[in-house]
Amino acid sequence: MGELQRLDKLIAGQGSLSRSEVKKLIARGLVAVNGLPAKNGEQKVDPEQDVLLVNGKELRFRKHLYLMLNKPKGVVSAARDNRFPTVVDLVPEQLKRSGLFPAGRLDKDTEGFVLLTDDGVLAHRILSPKSHVPKSYVAVLDQPIDPLLRQRFEAGMFLDAERQCLPASVEELPDYPSQPAVLVVIREGMYHQIKRMFSACGRKVLSLKRVQIGELKLDENLISGACRELTFQELEMLQKGGS
Ligand code: URA
Repeated sequence: MGELQRLDKLIAGQGSLSRSEVKKLIARGLVAVNGLPAKNGEQKVDPEQDVLLVNGKELRFRKHLYLMLNKPKGVVSAARDNRFPTVVDLVPEQLKRSGLFPAGRLDKDTEGFVLLTDDGVLAHRILSPKSHVPKSYVAVLDQPIDPLLRQRFEAGMFLDAERQCLPASVEELPDYPSQPAVLVVIREGMYHQIKRMFSACGRKVLSLKRVQIGELKLDENLISGACRELTFQELEMLQKGGS
């Protein structure tokens, strides 16, 4: 048995309907609890046991929402911004929920995998400097890499006097359409980290795309700008990640 909650609050907390919209649906007899029309918004329900029908559709209760977004260039990794579109703006109405935020930032000109969630605990696990969840990126460079660059990445380079990066891996991607391209894996998220690491080795990053977080790969079928909910198995993969 789960924790009992007010019907209107529970429905509104799951998606794009406001509490007053939920109240209107209830008044019109369009919300049912276990097959019986709901009496009012204050009615207490058990989200884990009771079957709720809202406007003819069963409401699948999710405590938290986890979305995989393929971020395009030009979009900022924030919940709100006055000048540019944000990753949260890209979420379609039916997947919107208050409290969604990106678990980790990509630069405005970086593309790829952003996890959006309202689960602060999971976000902390992914982002915490202590958890070392690997993140993989495809970078297109102005010049090819060489053994010295690889050594410096693998040894953990200093980007400034105080902080040494954790060891990172870098591999050439000979079949990638744009050249020279590499796959880079880092285990932390310092500001502009990958661009700064290559810059310290005399290379310029021409484009950057995050393709994996922990064990979870960006879905290749997700076109730029699109997002979808994680499956249960994918969520488990994320929860396991890190060291
Ligand atoms: N490293 C960068 O330089 N930029 C990003 O967006 C992510 C990692």
